[in-house]
Amino acid sequence: MVKVDISGVSDFIDENELSSIDTQSAFSEITTLYESGWVTLPKDYDTELSGKIKEIAKKIREQSKVLVVLGIGGSYLGARAAIDYIVSPNYNFLSKDTPDIYFAGNNASGAYLNDVMEMIGERDFSVNVISKSGSTIETAIALRFFKAMLEEKYGAMGLKERLYVTTDAGSPLNEMANREGYDCLEMPERVGGRYSVLTVVGLLPCAVAGIDIDAMMAGALEELENGVDNACLYAATRQLLYRKGKKIEMLACFEPAFRYMGEWWKQLFGESEGKDGIGIFPASADYTADLHSLGQYIQEGERTLMETFVSFDAPRVNPMIPGGPLHDDKITILAGMELDEINRSASQAVKKAHIEGGVPVMELSVSNMSAASYGALAYFFERSCAISAIVSGVIPFGQPGVEAYKNNLYEILGL
Ligand code: PA5
Repeated sequence: MVKVDISGVSDFIDENELSSIDTQSAFSEITTLYESGWVTLPKDYDTELSGKIKEIAKKIREQSKVLVVLGIGGSYLGARAAIDYIVSPNYNFLSKDTPDIYFAGNNASGAYLNDVMEMIGERDFSVNVISKSGSTIETAIALRFFKAMLEEKYGAMGLKERLYVTTDAGSPLNEMANREGYDCLEMPERVGGRYSVLTVVGLLPCAVAGIDIDAMMAGALEELENGVDNACLYAATRQLLYRKGKKIEMLACFEPAFRYMGEWWKQLFGESEGKDGIGIFPASADYTADLHSLGQYIQEGERTLMETFVSFDAPRVNPMIPGGPLHDDKITILAGMELDEINRSASQAVKKAHIEGGVPVMELSVSNMSAASYGALAYFFERSCAISAIVSGVIPFGQPGVEAYKNNLYEILGL
């Protein structure tokens, strides 16, 4: 379960003001509008779906040393965030019995694509192309490269065995999969791209990485059943702060493994809320690293920031600081202290400094960095984002603004 602490905003808002934000109606609206779809995904997850995903994951693990996941935005960030968060941001460099996982199709850079191909080298590989619409240009172009690479290495039959398609029923990609005979995992209906991490979109790459997807969905289910009040509290607090001039929300965490969760969160909130000339601008920071770059601005720059810290009751690993004569300075007295104590002290110190500097700080916490807490956080953010957007007066689903660049690109390319 995700806990919400808003004591760090008490200098900026009066808690009684929160009742002026009608999150309950917004919650009823999403529940009625979406009595199926992304809202009920954790309930809809059953042994049949779990078994199907695990079976395909097992096949990929057995046939390949590398899985290339092609997708962009909601079709990639959730899985990437989950692997970093649950296993490690260094997943590919760890010794393990699961395939390396590379992500491509999330940009139009030839250099990036070339690097991924080189990293695969002579190793056996499979490809999971993920695109809800089945027509996103970056992903479609990358697919052409990797399809050709698969065919060259394994022939037409091998290509069929190693290309896995995740898309909407009836999309051009779905039609291609049916026509050419690839395994196709269809996305459930009424689930937008950025709300799709708890579907085959996020679950298949996670299962290939050896993540316990049942635990992830159980965490999401617990959040669905018991987390409404906390989601409403977070949504209401950020909207109230926005009304008071806090236009930017910085999601910050003291664990580098959270970095891609920040990227996923930015897409979720940015595409859901930034419409009709309004919306909180979502930014993210990786502490303590970014305190040495953005810290000055956060402390003393324009006072339009609010922050949300994400913390964990228990660290994944907690080494002790070694002693010895290396540093003959004040740090020597910290020998024997657990590193988590330093990290917590840093969080406390930053929170106090930022609040004193005029930045309200909300804090979200979960027990640890597990598959279950990832599922809980993903569901918590999806729900609070939808509630927050509706409260602000915009429709959280759809991203009409993204079409502007796509239309220009199509025109420039003569498509
Ligand atoms: O939230 C969304 O729907 C989008 O941001 C998509 O995730 C992104 O554009 C990728 O689209 P698709 O999965 O259709 O390739």
